[in-house]
Amino acid sequence: MTTPTPQTAPWWEELPAGRNRLRGRAHLHTDAPELSLDGTWDFRYGTRADGSDLGEPAPITVPGLWQLQGYGAPQYTNVVYPIPVDVPHVPDENPTGHYSRQVAVPADWADALAAGGRVLLRFQGVDSAARVLIGGTEVGVTSGSRLTQEFDVTDVLAGAGEDGAAEHRLDVQVVQWSVNTYVEDQDMWWMSGIFRSVDLLLRPAGGIHDLVTHADYDPATGEGTLTALATDADGAPVPATVRIPGLDLEVPADGTPVPVGPVDPWSAEVPSLYEATVTADSGAETVRLKLGFRRVVVDGDVLRVNGERVVFRGVNRHEVDQHVGRTQHPGNQDLDVALMKRHNLNAVRTSHYPPHQRFLEVCDEQGLYVICEGDFEAHGFHADSTWGEDPTGAARRPADDPRFLETLVERSDRFVRRDRNHASIVLWSIGNEAATGSVTTAMIQAVRDADATRPVLYEQDYRTDDADLFSLMYPSVQESREIGEKSLSPEFRERLVGMLRALGLDASDDGFDDAPALTKPFLWIEFAHAMGNGAGSLKEYMALTDEFDSLQGGFIWEWIDHGLVTTDAAGNRIWGYGGDFGERLHDGNFVADGLVLPDRTPSPALLDAKHHYSPVKLEVGAGTATLTNRHAFRDLSHLRAEVSVDGQLKWQELELPALAPGESGTLALPAAEAGVTVVRLLTREAEGPVPADHLIVAADHVDDAARAAAVPALGAAAAPVRAEDGSWTLGPARFDDLGRLVALGGLEVEHSDVDLYRAPVDNERARTHYPLEARWKRIGLDVPRRRLVSLTAEGDALVVRTRLGLDGSSLGADVTTTWRGDASAVEAAVTVTPAAHWPAGLPLPRVGWTLALPGGLDEVAYDGAGPHESYPDTGGGATVGLWTSTLEDLQVRYVFPQENGNRARVVAADLRGEAGSLALHAPEGLGLAVRPWSTAELDRKDHDGALEADGRTWVTLSAALQGVGSAACGPAPLPEYVLDASERSFGFRLTPGA
Ligand code: GAL
Repeated sequence: MTTPTPQTAPWWEELPAGRNRLRGRAHLHTDAPELSLDGTWDFRYGTRADGSDLGEPAPITVPGLWQLQGYGAPQYTNVVYPIPVDVPHVPDENPTGHYSRQVAVPADWADALAAGGRVLLRFQGVDSAARVLIGGTEVGVTSGSRLTQEFDVTDVLAGAGEDGAAEHRLDVQVVQWSVNTYVEDQDMWWMSGIFRSVDLLLRPAGGIHDLVTHADYDPATGEGTLTALATDADGAPVPATVRIPGLDLEVPADGTPVPVGPVDPWSAEVPSLYEATVTADSGAETVRLKLGFRRVVVDGDVLRVNGERVVFRGVNRHEVDQHVGRTQHPGNQDLDVALMKRHNLNAVRTSHYPPHQRFLEVCDEQGLYVICEGDFEAHGFHADSTWGEDPTGAARRPADDPRFLETLVERSDRFVRRDRNHASIVLWSIGNEAATGSVTTAMIQAVRDADATRPVLYEQDYRTDDADLFSLMYPSVQESREIGEKSLSPEFRERLVGMLRALGLDASDDGFDDAPALTKPFLWIEFAHAMGNGAGSLKEYMALTDEFDSLQGGFIWEWIDHGLVTTDAAGNRIWGYGGDFGERLHDGNFVADGLVLPDRTPSPALLDAKHHYSPVKLEVGAGTATLTNRHAFRDLSHLRAEVSVDGQLKWQELELPALAPGESGTLALPAAEAGVTVVRLLTREAEGPVPADHLIVAADHVDDAARAAAVPALGAAAAPVRAEDGSWTLGPARFDDLGRLVALGGLEVEHSDVDLYRAPVDNERARTHYPLEARWKRIGLDVPRRRLVSLTAEGDALVVRTRLGLDGSSLGADVTTTWRGDASAVEAAVTVTPAAHWPAGLPLPRVGWTLALPGGLDEVAYDGAGPHESYPDTGGGATVGLWTSTLEDLQVRYVFPQENGNRARVVAADLRGEAGSLALHAPEGLGLAVRPWSTAELDRKDHDGALEADGRTWVTLSAALQGVGSAACGPAPLPEYVLDASERSFGFRLTPGA
């Protein structure tokens, strides 16, 4: 069926790829002996795949990536291949690492071997291809960097090794570039080596080579059915018995479905698992596993788990560690799942390859719905505009290249066989961004053949001809609504047809009209691109899942920033991204777009997601809160409710109705003391990684008028006094002859002016769909020039009229600032009028005021929305109250410096430290950001670790801010979050302390 590459092809370019590998099978926990080969190996590095220029041996750690152990360098590209597209060939210069060590079969395996046992050598991850030799004899070749590969090494390890010693030399020749590279073009670092564990396994004669289980749950009866089949290496049944003590069950593992009576079903909400053993009747081997009974079906346009519609509140997860890259620190799997569970996530897509097997075990144990994805992406073919035209086939996309058929079908079969016993996996995906063709159709079929119990999806099957679910990445809120309504606008249809054509499909204008897509459930396979500050509008997306049954949620892009710890030229410790390792071709910081920073600190986007992913919808009104239980299976008896009416200082317990899944109810609330009521739901008891008293969701009701009224008014008016040099005093404030505030009591003020700018967020930078940064900078918005128009005393007010001008542009704004004061405070009333000819469609970043005060005001208390940052389209879960923070904790250390840290709806704040103190008041509620560096510094630096504090405290009050959107890879902010350049007025009061 395939045309093999001529025999002269070197092993790393051969198709079908891989040699002599055993068929994929489950990763089983067994009592058969296993010997870990992890540890220190000998390593020789060179640039030629044939190994002809290898250097001297040196120790290296396995598992590990050689680029992070002193050889070569990481390279980051998102789409484009870092090598010429010349299938199946790769360049002569090919970073190559030869790993070797001695290996001996443990003496106590001898009897089992004599009785017919076999020895397998297992690699769980080698990037990108390896040729394995024992004692100089080739054992095989790997294919599938993130796939487990096993070789039967019994015969080569039998008898003595070199010089009659018990040990044999194991050589693993790894190349960075191989034919696999063309089908492993995921958006991540290109790094190489043996990055997951290596083991030697004893397979006893009569043992359980493979085991496939299906633990089905019938929601109608509440009963389970277990099918288990134990097989040998040839696929023949092995007489074996399954025992589940928790069900008092003991049945043959012979593939016969066995009714097991009532069971507690598995779901992400309640992940009930049953400990099971499967023992070969010969006694040769016992394997242990945890079984979860559940049923996943596509029922028309709704996906159901255990009979109920579920909504995926998910995230895409790559395997990344800031020190060891794709090698997983033990513990990262548990930590990631714990963080996800604590932030209301219930689903994860293993983008874009099968994860370390421990991750799936934790998902089973703690409860996350998993889309397990195969190791397949060929995105670089889309980036090459000439593909499809090359008559040699060197640029033919693998999805319809028969040369790849066998290899890719085998990949699909292999990953499903490893993971199909996991309860957490509810869907399979064959891969990502690789177009469609006869090969992907065959891959989907291969997945179904290996496991008929779960639906299969593949996002790029846009028409959904083969896949069981319709999925897209980054559709807009409006497009998603149209999918929910099953009525696509002509524009969206046209876009979809364009997407089909971009895949090289010969789509006519009505190419989507007969597509089965809208008859199936829909998922955002990726949405809400969490790069830097953002993504915006998670609220609007998730609201659609409440409105339309067939919209079943999705997966935020992505879990973690892939920044790697390194140092810059100045010696700062930074998180490196594309371009920091000397790469010629790279995609910059597009590799840092996660909900957690590279060190796994939650970014505010994770807190925003936590809120909009809440399993209970909570809305607080005056005197009442409304709740809807969004769980599919649980009532609310595991939660409790509290209310605060005094700024979140004291909490009163409320009686929370149990509410069945889908049910709504209300809570009566006491009267608010200062216009603010906050309700929160907390866990009663610890469940897995979620502790007791853990916040699930909080929401507030704010009576802005009452809050404003609570801010005391100025006392008896102070009069502005002009000094001889033209400067002015007004209460505690001093202004220079240009009307600039220069001192507040004992606090020197180095800068005080209207502020229309912010350090652009990732979603506004070049290469986004909405590159506002360039437009803002073209008109000089980042370096505004002030010109005094007039400075006059008008009664008890000092009125300063200025013009904010922009270099090279006639745009700008007129600003009138009216200062009033009393003995201890000054108040500014500011009106900003942008130029009447300001271009429509060019939003302002901000309308606000920035002050530079002495450094060291590093204790900040504020009455506003907290504890985390908010922008107009983010900040879910931030509630109004009295919050305190250090200056340091107010900053968000985004990998690429950008606007951050705004606390919204602040009516009062107190900054204090060595330099003294300052009280701020803003009755109508302003955004507050306090920083140890200026916006210019945030704008200038390209790594968080390079930011330098300048000895001042920068305070920015924002009356209005542009939304952050998702345009780095998705839509711009929704119209309601766009800050148009119209006239705006705001005010604030400054009270210096002692
Ligand atoms: C998608 C892709 C992801 C990632 C994302 C942008 O197109 O599937 O792997 O590249 O865009 O960050």
